[in-house]
Amino acid sequence: MPIVETLEDVVEAILKSRYLISLTGAGISAESGIPTFRGRDGLWRKYRPEDLASPEAFRNNPKLIWEWYSWRISMIINASPNPAHVSLARLEDMGILKALITQNVDNLHERAGSKNIIKLHGDILTARCISCGYKKRLDAPPEELPPKCPSCGELLRPDVVWFGEPLPTEALGAAIIHTHRADAILVIGTSGVVYPAGAIPYTVRENGGVVIEINIGESAITPIADYFVRGKAGEVLPKILDLIAKKL
Ligand code: OAD
Repeated sequence: MPIVETLEDVVEAILKSRYLISLTGAGISAESGIPTFRGRDGLWRKYRPEDLASPEAFRNNPKLIWEWYSWRISMIINASPNPAHVSLARLEDMGILKALITQNVDNLHERAGSKNIIKLHGDILTARCISCGYKKRLDAPPEELPPKCPSCGELLRPDVVWFGEPLPTEALGAAIIHTHRADAILVIGTSGVVYPAGAIPYTVRENGGVVIEINIGESAITPIADYFVRGKAGEVLPKILDLIAKKL
């Protein structure tokens, strides 16, 4: 089990890196009040994933699926980025963080100021036509559920990746490129059990890179972490940022 004596070790590893990337999961948005998927209060505790997040579930009951997404959309619109999101944006501004790969479908990284964001699992604030590909940005849950495509009249669906679906090609391609360039990765708030995202830290490690994990508990990534910092992302990341700022 990797143990961090002090955050100084982590800071040193970050400053030594030439191409640091980050992989984030639901845990980074937990302190913004958005529930994670797994764990005690996780979303998948209350629901079976395939009942709400699969193409089949949508075909069977699009209104129910939209009700669930509308609830999540409202929660995300009313949430604010927390100090963990802001710290990652600052690390990018400083030229240290080169790319941010997220499994999150919320918009909190963008709102915190991150720019090079790769959204592996799509974007909950975009609706997409199931037939003609028309896309629409949402700044509130759709008024009529399920919403219809203004272009062809078919159903709109959330532009997110559901179980059994492939990842968006462009995002996956970008993630692969950054993963192979990386000589260090900050893995924050993910259980690491969903693939291919969960394979990213393993690939960085196999390529000789350093794996730094921040999580309140152990995950599927912890066994290969060179540094494991147990704690809340919103508390740990600002401390790391302060230490880096003092050294620059
Ligand atoms: P999970 O819910 O599986 O894992 C959340 C992780 O965050 C756990 O390891 C927690 O210990 C950790 N955590 C919780 N609060 C934290 C905090 N304040 N600071 C740091 N860590 C914290 O979420 P993901 O790994 O993101 O996919 O789940 C991956 C994918 O599974 C999601 O993108 C979603 C879901 O099915 C799709 O919808 C396609």
